[in-house]
Amino acid sequence: MVKPFFVAIDGPAGAGKSTVSQEVARRLNLQYLDTGAMYRAITWKALQLNVNLEDDNFLKKLIENTKIQIKGKQKNLIIVDGTDVTTKIRTPEINNNVSIVAKSPVVRSALVELQRKVAIDAGRIIMEGRDIGTKVLPDAHIKLFLTASLDERCRRRLKDFKDMNIKTDIQALKKELALRDKIDSERKDSPLMQAEDAFLIDTTNISFNEVVDKIVEIIENHKDFKKQDSKDE
Ligand code: DC
Repeated sequence: MVKPFFVAIDGPAGAGKSTVSQEVARRLNLQYLDTGAMYRAITWKALQLNVNLEDDNFLKKLIENTKIQIKGKQKNLIIVDGTDVTTKIRTPEINNNVSIVAKSPVVRSALVELQRKVAIDAGRIIMEGRDIGTKVLPDAHIKLFLTASLDERCRRRLKDFKDMNIKTDIQALKKELALRDKIDSERKDSPLMQAEDAFLIDTTNISFNEVVDKIVEIIENHKDFKKQDSKDE
């Protein structure tokens, strides 16, 4: 039996949570879970069906009839009803709608249940999102809140889109991120918030490697963390 060790990472869109968490997971041989991808997956399905994203009754039926699977240890593959949607859920259309779907309590409770199950099955996990330290894993061994200035987050998102060959302009992006921050922080059910016992890391002026090194150090110095190679599993 693997002794559980949970790391929770929260923060606004574009703060670098995913890339940083994946690299920390790789270095320490932890399971990684991108919970935002799960909200994106439901949004993708709702958009396919062309329905009102604010209709909670519809979302309830949708969530009951959708199978979301997460595969992969440090890079997650997201499968919805058997279809691999990993790249399909990264479009501007999903970005513009996901916070609306993520407000829904029925969607949240179903996905939180699934997220906790992934953590229990994995044992050693780094999970990132908006409410991991406050709601999903309130007893996580380590909680981190990653943030960066809005301008810096826009710059990073612009680069991601460029790498994916998706055209967007900086003003539209800034508006989208600011609106998403607002909806995610102001919703009633588990809003984006720094947990009281979370370390705050502002990544605006620090490099990717410095952020990863810092987090690896925090984890390795935790009294309950034991290093484990993949060959030990
Ligand atoms: O991390 P991301 O940008 O892929 O997340 C997409 C959206 O999903 C985000 O705007 C809010 C929602 N989300 C959430 O409400 N709770 C989480 N734990 C993760 C994401």
